[in-house]
Amino acid sequence: MGYLVDLDGQVALVTGSGQGIGAAIVQKLSEAGCQVIMNDVCEESLVEHTLQECEQVGKRPFYIRCDISDEQQVQKMIQKIVDKYGRLDILVNNAGIVADWDKSYAVNTKGMYYCCEAARPYLQQTKGRIVILTSASVFSGGTGFPQYNVTKAGCYALTLFLARNYAKLGIRVNGVAPAVIMSKMLVTRFGSEEAVREHYRDIMPLGKIGMPEDIANIVLFLSCELSDYMTGEVLIADGGRMHIG
Ligand SMILES: NC(=O)c1ccc[n+]([C@@H]2O[C@H](COP(=O)([O-])OP(=O)(O)OC[C@H]3O[C@@H](n4cnc5c(N)ncnc54)[C@H](O)[C@@H]3O)[C@@H](O)[C@H]2O)c1
Repeated sequence: MGYLVDLDGQVALVTGSGQGIGAAIVQKLSEAGCQVIMNDVCEESLVEHTLQECEQVGKRPFYIRCDISDEQQVQKMIQKIVDKYGRLDILVNNAGIVADWDKSYAVNTKGMYYCCEAARPYLQQTKGRIVILTSASVFSGGTGFPQYNVTKAGCYALTLFLARNYAKLGIRVNGVAPAVIMSKMLVTRFGSEEAVREHYRDIMPLGKIGMPEDIANIVLFLSCELSDYMTGEVLIADGGRMHIG
């Protein structure tokens, strides 16, 4: 038998997972046997299809509507999870937004920190893992939205800060820096999926645009024992643009 990532018995929270990369992460962790908590700002009815898809391959996720930029809401969300499931093993800080400066900072940087700090006492009990979604634009300067790049650079700094400060608690903290992943965020910027493909067709070294599952696979690796000797690392997943583009 091949190697199996088995997260049965573990509990994971994925923020901003109503669609896109987050929804793919929820699916991937569910397939690995994890009890996943989905979070977003939308009505639960809008994520019902993801809940059902996951239920077919694993445990039905539990949805919590919460704005992660509100510290009190975040504390309530974490408490609700621990009251219901008794533990928290994995926190995937995926929620992100392209907005004005204040909103970008509130969600992309401060909101992530609120989630990590609220989850810390419970992750400490399970030798937990935190995964932070930053962006390859932090290194490349791409996207055209300075407030996005700057606040995602905050996520990068947060990954290193938390890795250093949580290591003694037994919590590992790693990041993923994607670029050019087909999702609403990217499609909104270019207007349509076709326009995204047209723009990137000839400039992706690997000859393709990334899909949410490509990032979910890396998050799974950083969430399980395969990465047990890593903390404070940020993996770039950009189809090769940064290094050979
Ligand atoms: N798509 C890409 O190419 C790309 C590249 C680099 C980094 N990223 C990062 O990956 C992550 C996921 O991006 P995506 O492309 O799937 O985007 P997306 O817009 O499809 O999904 C982001 C989700 O976050 C949710 N969200 C926004 N504000 C929130 C809040 N305050 N509280 C809770 N949820 C909130 C949104 O409702 C949305 O469902 C983001 O952090 C993004 O910055 C994406």
